[in-house]
Amino acid sequence: MQRDIFLAGSGQTRFGEWWDKGIKELMDEAVRETLSGSPCTALDVDMVVVANMIGEVGSGQAHLGAMASMLFPHRPPALRVESACASGALALHTATALLESGKAETVLVIGVEKMTDVSNDVVASALMGAADAEADRPAGLTFPGIFGLIATRYMHEYGLTRDDLSIVSAVHHAQAVVNPYAQFRQALEPEAVSRSALIANPLRLLDCSPVSDGAAACLLSTKFTSNVRLAASQIATDSLSLVDRPTLTSFQATRDAMERALEEAKVELGDIRTIETHDCFSIAAVINMEDLGFAEPGQGIEVYRAIRRGASSLAVNKSGGLKACGHPVAATGIKQFNDVAKQLRATGERYGIAHNFGGAAATCGIHLLEHA
Ligand code: COA
Repeated sequence: MQRDIFLAGSGQTRFGEWWDKGIKELMDEAVRETLSGSPCTALDVDMVVVANMIGEVGSGQAHLGAMASMLFPHRPPALRVESACASGALALHTATALLESGKAETVLVIGVEKMTDVSNDVVASALMGAADAEADRPAGLTFPGIFGLIATRYMHEYGLTRDDLSIVSAVHHAQAVVNPYAQFRQALEPEAVSRSALIANPLRLLDCSPVSDGAAACLLSTKFTSNVRLAASQIATDSLSLVDRPTLTSFQATRDAMERALEEAKVELGDIRTIETHDCFSIAAVINMEDLGFAEPGQGIEVYRAIRRGASSLAVNKSGGLKACGHPVAATGIKQFNDVAKQLRATGERYGIAHNFGGAAATCGIHLLEHA
């Protein structure tokens, strides 16, 4: 990093179905919580970066930078970042660049998504904007369908069974029970996952992150210090469509972003035990463990088996992940970032990563945090 960047405040709404709140109210709630626990006042915010994917479709609202700026008395300059489900990480990366360049000393980053005011068909179609409109959409694919294909291929290559896969959501739900911000806080047995409604073979309802409303925000600052510092901010991209990939069972953008993040932070993989990873579907979490370097190809499920047995040194998605916390898409990357900081402060661990991707990991952002 060119400069020391500190996490000077964080906040979020609970994720879920908020029919009585619009984008502005959700952002306002997250901003208030962020400022209330921070040494900064609203007037210390030099710039605002807003992450959002489907504002136009979900609420008929674009121009979210100006809307977010209105939440501050001095109307700071503000801009919007869109990179599908990785919008949150890309907004954090954008803020980092503004801070490193000296354009700003304190940036408020906020991710917001309002998904439940329109039907699930409309949301599914809008989310398909994260895939290749010419190569993927005409085939009738939705995101559950895309990850269903990935899961089928993974099972074929590595022998993962349907019941193995169910362990992933059981772990995420068990960990969300104590998270007051999670959309779903009930524990689940793997059998319940295997028996839930079929969505896109072999994926079932309880393999899928839900459709959610919510906002999450944080303050990044070179001026206001704290005991959590950003050690690396890296992004990577891959082909939009699966048809242009050499494999369906590994995401190259995750591998590239992770390699760059470790290099930027000068940290060894073995020093990282706190991980929030992008489990938009259970199979993604399995693949992520391999691409991030915590398991060999075909062995990602072993990380989850060990967590379930209470025999793992890794803390993966202690928040409950996307599956149980909910996935208001552009808010997720910022929520993950805040959760990693919370966990480092609670456990005293030194390093943690927030791993956020968009589409079938066509865009990936990794933020590596260091706790003093
Ligand atoms: N996990 C747990 N419970 C869920 C859930 C999920 N993922 N999705 C819905 N539910 C619950 C609802 O709360 C509801 O419960 P209730 O009857 O007690 O109110 C019930 O299941 C039915 O919900 P409904 O919204 O009618 O389900 P649906 O069949 O329309 O949608 C999915 C289910 C899986 C298709 C939808 O959640 C989805 O598309 N998820 C993926 C979103 C996505 O692609 N995100 C981008 C990732 S790249």
